[in-house]
Amino acid sequence: WSRTARKDDGVLSVGGVRLPDLVAEHGSPAYVLDEADFRARAGAFRDAFAAYDVYYAGKAFLCTAVARWVADEGLCLDVCTGGELAVAERAGFPMERVGFHGNNKSPAEIERAVRLGVGRVIADSFAEVERLAEISARLGVTVRVMVRVTAGVEAHTHEYIATAHEDQKFGFSITSGDAFEAVRRVHDAPGLDLLGLHSHIGSQIFDSSGFEVAARRVLALHARVAADLDVRMPEMDLGGGFGIAYTTQDDPAEPSRLAAEMTAIVEHECRALGIEAPALSIEPGRAIAGPSVCTVYEVGTVKPVQLDGGAVRTYVSVDGGMSDNIRTALYDADYSCTLAGRASDAAPVLARVVGKHCEAGDVVVKDEFLPADVAPGDLLAVPGTGAYCRSMASNYNHTLRPPVIAVRDGVARVVVRRETEQDLLATDVDDPEVIES
Ligand code: LLP
Repeated sequence: WSRTARKDDGVLSVGGVRLPDLVAEHGSPAYVLDEADFRARAGAFRDAFAAYDVYYAGKAFLCTAVARWVADEGLCLDVCTGGELAVAERAGFPMERVGFHGNNKSPAEIERAVRLGVGRVIADSFAEVERLAEISARLGVTVRVMVRVTAGVEAHTHEYIATAHEDQKFGFSITSGDAFEAVRRVHDAPGLDLLGLHSHIGSQIFDSSGFEVAARRVLALHARVAADLDVRMPEMDLGGGFGIAYTTQDDPAEPSRLAAEMTAIVEHECRALGIEAPALSIEPGRAIAGPSVCTVYEVGTVKPVQLDGGAVRTYVSVDGGMSDNIRTALYDADYSCTLAGRASDAAPVLARVVGKHCEAGDVVVKDEFLPADVAPGDLLAVPGTGAYCRSMASNYNHTLRPPVIAVRDGVARVVVRRETEQDLLATDVDDPEVIES
């Protein structure tokens, strides 16, 4: 739950706004974004990692208002498509604090980013290094480039595997020599300014040993570049991926502890390698946006289903589902939920919260105990939906994507409005024109 979430007499409020009032005014489902919480988490990373540049990873969740909060809080911004860049541009985000990622940026996207003056482009392939060199030469500007490397650490939800790293699409492999070669090419290209290496090992990571192994390998390459090419790269990015608590079983580290651990690893390795530490940056997305949102739904139907062995599972259908939160269906993610509009003394029953889509895998919360009197019209709130829910939302079954409503000090503001049927029909051509060839 976000910091300002409170329950009084069974009624949940966030940012001083009671969710039943919010739903009465704006409808459901809705993403409720606790502005103070988002800013506090951004600020906690900024302060804990004061010696670093902290890039908020916009892929977790981005809209114009959020881009402005990120700028206000003094963070930098990681974007990975022309679309995210467009939001940053509209928000007036200082472009020198924007980093541009992606394994398949189009030439047009790169050119736009370069024209806008983004602070760094993270190169992910040899083809892209060539494109960057061509664009910088044609426009006559210097582009600051980081080289994304795969450190041989593949992080999964709760574990990391130190072997299966080659078989994925991102970055340049350190072990194959591609990473070294990419560094050499960026360094040799006249219009490219080689900033340093970039490593991102995965997402929702709790075990810091993954970061440790990655940092060690990336620093070893950094030292080799200094020794063999006589090039001192000024910066290094260690990526994002810091895990958050989705259920009470998860135990995430505070930014201050992450910062202390990361800094200690880097300092230790740099001493061992006899090199000066580069200026560091990180890219947290989920750890800033994730906990600051809850999704509020209205219950439509309640259906007890007899399981083998006699137990009963109560299927509680809500007015959203995998179109606003695909993470349960896609990653088998765990969420919890609570009744948001009233108190209940009824005994708890084992419930599964499901959506309204035409698909059995359309589950929002796999298992939760809800009061036995849960009924149509009740509100349910699911916490921890700020990262990769709205940003991965779809119009499956022609549903309308829910609004994002920012709440703070008792005031609610729509920062992303609810879609309408007009929005859906706008791209659907009613009377297709024949195109003469
Ligand atoms: N930097 C880079 C280069 C990334 O690829 C990512 C996430 C991040 C930073 C931010 O990672 P975070 O701190 O948010 O973990 N859709 C998945 C997560 C995909 C993460 C993609 N990259 C999910 O819902 O769990």
